[in-house]
Amino acid sequence: MSTHTRQIHLVSRPDGLPSDNDFRTVDVELPDPGPGEILVRNTVLSVDPYMRGRMNDVRSYVPPFALDAPLEGGAVGVVVASGDPSVSAGDAVLHMAGWREHAVLPARAARKVDVELAPDSAYLGVLGMPGVTAYVGLTLIAGVKEGDTVFVSGAAGAVGSIAGQLARKLGATKVIGSAGSPEKVAWLTEELGYDAAFDYHDGPPAKLLRPHGPIDAYFDNVGGDHLEAAIFHMADFGRIAACGAIADYNATAPVPGPRNLAMVVSKRLSLRGFIVSDHPGAAADYLRVAGPWVASGEIRYRETVVDGLDRTVEAFRSLFSGDNIGKMLVRL
Ligand SMILES: NC(=O)c1ccc[n+]([C@@H]2O[C@H](COP(=O)([O-])OP(=O)(O)OC[C@H]3O[C@@H](n4cnc5c(N)ncnc54)[C@H](OP(=O)(O)O)[C@@H]3O)[C@@H](O)[C@H]2O)c1
Repeated sequence: MSTHTRQIHLVSRPDGLPSDNDFRTVDVELPDPGPGEILVRNTVLSVDPYMRGRMNDVRSYVPPFALDAPLEGGAVGVVVASGDPSVSAGDAVLHMAGWREHAVLPARAARKVDVELAPDSAYLGVLGMPGVTAYVGLTLIAGVKEGDTVFVSGAAGAVGSIAGQLARKLGATKVIGSAGSPEKVAWLTEELGYDAAFDYHDGPPAKLLRPHGPIDAYFDNVGGDHLEAAIFHMADFGRIAACGAIADYNATAPVPGPRNLAMVVSKRLSLRGFIVSDHPGAAADYLRVAGPWVASGEIRYRETVVDGLDRTVEAFRSLFSGDNIGKMLVRL
């Protein structure tokens, strides 16, 4: 007996900000799971900025999304039928067959999650890839240590909101954030324990950051003017973890690099990019270290949730207008 479901396909490569016409919702009949496979009904989908890069036909650390095929992305769902002894109907699983209501996938491509311990959505945010990214960037890349002043851009997003709080736990004495609205700035300073934060719409980031430097470690989610601002205000021997450059993701022409790159030399800075999936062991370390803080509420998190597969494209696009506070998710 097949399963009728809907999935979102990429039908054209976006030019700049993706438009509705770049996507199509397609009705399909899924076969029953074969040996070693599971049928999952997704309950929550992740939309992430990195997906924008996969919509381009360029060589990168992950292959581009295929056209006229379902998009992929993190999702949590409930197993409806299983052809594999390691997974049972009713189990909750984390997997990459997102952007669709149901999926048939190999059982080995899914990981069981405990939804008694934490809600399904947490495995896509604070306890999932974004949380691990914050941990890897701060510990393995920027080497945040006792006494540091740490600057986080995109500070009210999924990764940034965890990064600022974790930086404090790792011993930072001063944590500064930038974000795109007064509401986000208030959340950072009043609830997440940031010492200071600014709305980058209030002026050039280099000017807004000036009162808070020198910066020992910068966690860069934004790139562009924020990276340039950080370089201006880094302390000698400062460390930059280049996590993302969302300001550039919809650019239609190559964007100029920071105009002050020569300061990397004069200040003896280190600037290192990273991809969280290159650090497969980090997730267990992160959960061991940060799991108890999340459970106790010492590390807080928020989610912005929209309802229904039909709003997935809108949710994805809203990452670029900053409509989300914390992790952006689609509830099915
Ligand atoms: N290296 C890795 O392995 C890895 C893994 C995960 C994520 N990342 C990167 O980490 C960054 C954050 O990802 P996330 O999942 O946590 O997303 P997110 O921060 O929850 O959402 C994106 C945020 O970016 C901000 N933004 C959008 N356009 C901007 C612009 N032009 N200038 C400044 N801010 C802008 C928006 O907030 P505002 O209201 O503040 O503008 C928006 O809420 C992204 O760059 C992503 O690609 C990297």
